[in-house]
Amino acid sequence: MNAIEIKNLSKNFGSKQAVCSLDMTVPKGAIYGFIGENGSGKSTTEKMICGLIHPDGGSIKLFGRDYTDADVRAKVGVLIESPGCFPNYSVWNNMKLQAANLNIKNADTEIQRVLKMVRMEGAAGNKYKNCSLGMKQRIGIAMALLGKSDLLVLDEPINGLDADGMRIMREVLCDLGENHGCTILISSHILGELEKIATHYGIIRGGKMIKEMTAEELEESCPTYVALKTKDINRAKANLACKYSRVEEDEAGYIRVYDAKEPEEIVTYLYENGILINEITTAKIGLEEYYIDLMKEGR
Ligand SMILES: Nc1ncnc2c1ncn2[C@@H]1O[C@H](COP(=O)(O)OP(=O)(O)O)[C@@H](O)[C@H]1O
Ligand SMILES: [Mg+2]
Repeated sequence: MNAIEIKNLSKNFGSKQAVCSLDMTVPKGAIYGFIGENGSGKSTTEKMICGLIHPDGGSIKLFGRDYTDADVRAKVGVLIESPGCFPNYSVWNNMKLQAANLNIKNADTEIQRVLKMVRMEGAAGNKYKNCSLGMKQRIGIAMALLGKSDLLVLDEPINGLDADGMRIMREVLCDLGENHGCTILISSHILGELEKIATHYGIIRGGKMIKEMTAEELEESCPTYVALKTKDINRAKANLACKYSRVEEDEAGYIRVYDAKEPEEIVTYLYENGILINEITTAKIGLEEYYIDLMKEGR
């Protein structure tokens, strides 16, 4: 069963089409990376999934039911923008307030459960205002998890985090997905980080889903290449182009040879043609470059 299944979703703000005929499928258990430029419609889509704004057309199913179904709504946790917390209250007391708002039974046990899930159990006594941005984001996730853990919708939760904050967030999200049966929809433009955790991707442009794929499909679409540097760049390119079908110079001044098997064969080949190599390595296209190329194609 899919956690989210969206067909033909549309939303206009006045004459602005924020989301148009968008389809999206998020399988249960996925960590779904939702990617797109600013203003492409990510937050609007997420707000509709969470019932915060109403679609103008199309359907949203969550776990096989209409998104307005009260039972299914109760399974969805959301963090869009930052959590509304009182700065001078402790983390624990902020959680207590939120639990009271949500009418959560056994609030203390439940708060302990969710704080542990986001690795904040040791910081429950800290004042909210003294928490780092990473901690605040995790408190927001803990609040979203109160009373449920089936589907989490997170809008740009890793923006502005430092390396350590990123690492903890990555561990928390992977743990939620792998060990707590959570499906996670996460929008982000920090593709290098997303690539470390996402099992699925959806790429949106101008309110339309232009590509959905699994991490394996991304892996297959991202070729490996041999990258090299030489002082004799033009002659090297000309020589390599005689033997290999895809030879390109990248922005960092490396020549990339996409259909070479091993660096050794290139070293030998160029040496035989009187060209010396300063540096050579094998590399692979990542999500970031795949995304940039995909965006270029559509222009
Ligand atoms: N409440 C609103 N009123 C008017 N326009 C809006 C509103 N919310 C979003 N938009 C517009 O809809 C488009 C999509 O916005 P948004 O979903 O926030 O994009 P993203 O989250 O991908 O950056 C943008 O052009 C934005 O300006
Ligand atoms: Mg947004």
